[in-house]
Amino acid sequence: MSSNKPEIFVIGDINIDLSLKGIGREFCFSENLGREINLDDVSLEVGGSGFNFVKIGNSMGLDINFTGKIGDDFFGDYINGYLKRRKIKNRLIKSNKVKTGITVLFPVDKDRIYLTYNSGSKNLDIKEVPVEDIKNYNHLHYSSYYLLEKLQEHTIEIFKYLKNKTTISFDTGIDPKNEWQKDNILSILEYTDVFLPNRAEALNITKSNNIEDALDVLSDYCDLVVLKLGSEGSVAVQKNNKKKKKIFMPPFEIEFRDNSCCGDSFNAGFVYSYLRGETLEESLKFASACGALQATKLGNYNFKGKKDIYNFIERRN
Ligand SMILES: Nc1ncnc2c1ncn2[C@@H]1O[C@H](COP(=O)(O)OP(=O)(O)OP(=O)(O)O)[C@@H](O)[C@H]1O
Ligand SMILES: [Mg+2]
Repeated sequence: MSSNKPEIFVIGDINIDLSLKGIGREFCFSENLGREINLDDVSLEVGGSGFNFVKIGNSMGLDINFTGKIGDDFFGDYINGYLKRRKIKNRLIKSNKVKTGITVLFPVDKDRIYLTYNSGSKNLDIKEVPVEDIKNYNHLHYSSYYLLEKLQEHTIEIFKYLKNKTTISFDTGIDPKNEWQKDNILSILEYTDVFLPNRAEALNITKSNNIEDALDVLSDYCDLVVLKLGSEGSVAVQKNNKKKKKIFMPPFEIEFRDNSCCGDSFNAGFVYSYLRGETLEESLKFASACGALQATKLGNYNFKGKKDIYNFIERRN
């Protein structure tokens, strides 16, 4: 990569994450209507998949700028203060026409439920995205396609314009509307360098019943598809002159705490290693270590630079 370009630009979602800890599966039953339930703990963090990528990437030593949209309200001010205190570069749009997004998150067994309201991300407008400037970066990471509703019809224009000017990674996240827009996503993939779905996303987007079929379809459109499989690891398919090579990366064994943010950590790790020109296998291993380390923590894992991750890999070897 050319070294005098700033490294990475992120287009994505940013919101307040309110995590409620200490409620189990029984919380989901209607007998609880009208009851008051005591929690073990709560935490309030600035999150959103796009911003998590920024936060984690920064902690690995990447140089990142990003845009997203927040409201001119209490949580918007909180986010701005948070970014300022931590000196996190950004080109956030603040508007009094939207409310800053909030996600209430509660873990249930080894899974979780998210309740999200995010009129900020939903209303990020193409006129507010500095597409012309992004070509001066080495890489664009585009996160949470389905949540950035107003940008959806312009995503392909953005990718088309940037193709061959910068590399692009893409993580759609889940579609709360459960529609998945197969044709739109496949068209966008033709201009994407690295596609990073999880299992549910890959199956739903391609309308496949198994990951082999899903990978087959996705890799017809995108030269590098990296599929995240949670505690089962990850698998990548790379296409070169129509020949497809598949690499499976088993998961690192860890003491599991929480699976939130694993995908964002994995993405940041993958892009970090990919931009350094490491092999696909090395990038997958590095990304898996980031996802695994994240899974050992409640809330965000605080990566202390890339050394932290290489040390973890070394200990496991
Ligand atoms: N329990 C685990 N043990 C080991 N590695 C894990 C575990 N959970 C996740 N990982 C690693 O992290 C990667 C990404 O996790 P996952 O598949 O949950 O992503 P995701 O569903 O996109 O997550 P997110 O909720 O952040 O969007 C996995 O492919 C794996 O390498
Ligand atoms: Mg994900």
